[in-house]
Amino acid sequence: MRAVVVYESMYGNTHQVADAIAAGLETAFDVGVVPVSEASAAGIADADLVVVGGPTHMHGMSRATTRKWAVQAADRPVGDLKVEPGALGPGLREWFGSLGRYPVKAAAFDTRLNGPAAMTGRASKAVARLLRAHGFDVVARPESFLVTKQDRLQQEETTRAREWGTRLAASIAPSKARS
Ligand SMILES: Cc1cc2nc3c(=O)[nH]c(=O)nc-3n(C[C@H](O)[C@H](O)[C@H](O)COP(=O)(O)O)c2cc1C
Repeated sequence: MRAVVVYESMYGNTHQVADAIAAGLETAFDVGVVPVSEASAAGIADADLVVVGGPTHMHGMSRATTRKWAVQAADRPVGDLKVEPGALGPGLREWFGSLGRYPVKAAAFDTRLNGPAAMTGRASKAVARLLRAHGFDVVARPESFLVTKQDRLQQEETTRAREWGTRLAASIAPSKARS
């Protein structure tokens, strides 16, 4: 069985989470991890599971303006944030705009600041909504992974992401060892 993890990332945190989720999914799937700029409709259509995640910007999914601000923030002399290739877009929002309908199992995640979701917002809620709007069968609750105010992934979040991926895999597929 094949899973695809599609991610959007400005500073690499969501990319790291995507890799960790993929490591968890590998208990039951052959997994590909692709940045949203390279995610083809064909690769989605014949997958058994699609996991989609991105950073929370202004309480939701990024837009062209917020991605520009993110790149400008990384240019400041303070801090040492590095911008991912393709950070300016297209992002998940634009990608969904180009997608058709896919009756494929799916799940959503995001990265965001630590705090009550009612205060920070969480992009994964919007991602899950768009997945459903495109016919995907969303099989897990949207999950957030947390970054510090300095835009660094909090300790233990990659472990938590890998475990989330393992649980997600177990919920829909027999493990590779048993199949
Ligand atoms: C323009 C901008 C807006 C942001 N808005 C929010 C927000 O509303 N809520 C939140 O929790 N985090 C917010 N953040 C923090 C991002 O969620 C954080 O930078 C992101 O999770 C890091 O992931 P990445 O390295 O994959 O881009 C914002 C960051 C930027 C650059």
